[in-house]
Amino acid sequence: MIQLRDASGRSSLAGSPLGSPADAASTARSVREMFGAVAPRYDFLNHALSCGFDLWWRRVTAGALSAVLGNSGSVAVDVCCGTGDLTFALARISRGMVIGADFCRPMLQRASLKLRRKARRGLRRQVAFMGADTLSLPLNDASVDVVTSGFGFRNLADYARGLTEMRRVLKPGGTLAILEFSRAQWPVFGGLFRLYLARLLPRFGAKISGVAGAYEYLHDSVSRFPCQKDLAAMLDEAGFEEVRYKNLMGGVAALHTGRKRG
Ligand SMILES: C[S@@+](CC[C@H](N)C(=O)[O-])C[C@H]1O[C@@H](n2cnc3c(N)ncnc32)[C@H](O)[C@@H]1O
Repeated sequence: MIQLRDASGRSSLAGSPLGSPADAASTARSVREMFGAVAPRYDFLNHALSCGFDLWWRRVTAGALSAVLGNSGSVAVDVCCGTGDLTFALARISRGMVIGADFCRPMLQRASLKLRRKARRGLRRQVAFMGADTLSLPLNDASVDVVTSGFGFRNLADYARGLTEMRRVLKPGGTLAILEFSRAQWPVFGGLFRLYLARLLPRFGAKISGVAGAYEYLHDSVSRFPCQKDLAAMLDEAGFEEVRYKNLMGGVAALHTGRKRG
């Protein structure tokens, strides 16, 4: 079992810090309620507070998977898809099927609305959204080629269980890609980013979303999330090989990829 530590030496979390730590159901409920409350302003806040970098990070994620997504029979599942921005980034280059899955209805409703708009504007890709808990996906064993998560994995009640479940649905050799906030490596920039996350973002986030606490949670969950190396070690321990990560914006975010072993 890996002993995870955050930047200040505290042990990192084994799951989202919302709800009661030992009660996965209470964490899931709190996470779902929180995203339900921020859903109406989620996209706007995402793009505004990251100065649009979030869109680029999702495009990098999709680009890293282009070889698999380019196969016409490929099936990709974007878990914790929220309003679907990563799902759509995958769909843009996929020649197969892309499914977005989330357990928060208001987020999914926005994703479906965006899908209808995109379809009217000519999106011809196979895209679908479904309600599903990432810790218990309604998918057969070894049935998909790619599983992705964009800024969703950090919110799971149990990271190890999430990895086991994502591995279960992947075909042998299938690819997992996790895009998450991580540990900024550039010293001055990293310090400024942490200050932004701790002080400014909670204020702006609360004002614009009207939900007190949601963006404090962002700071809390990001600062205690396993660092790049620890997350890579978790993937390895969960049965993935060729585990790699790519720092984005000096490690503010990182894209971890791995292939299902065996
Ligand atoms: C920060 S949002 C990310 C949304 C989207 N992937 C993106 O790139 O913007 C996190 C999402 O994870 C979802 N989520 C968290 N835990 C989940 C779980 N156990 N099962 C399904 N969805 C979950 C939340 O409902 C929320 O929509």
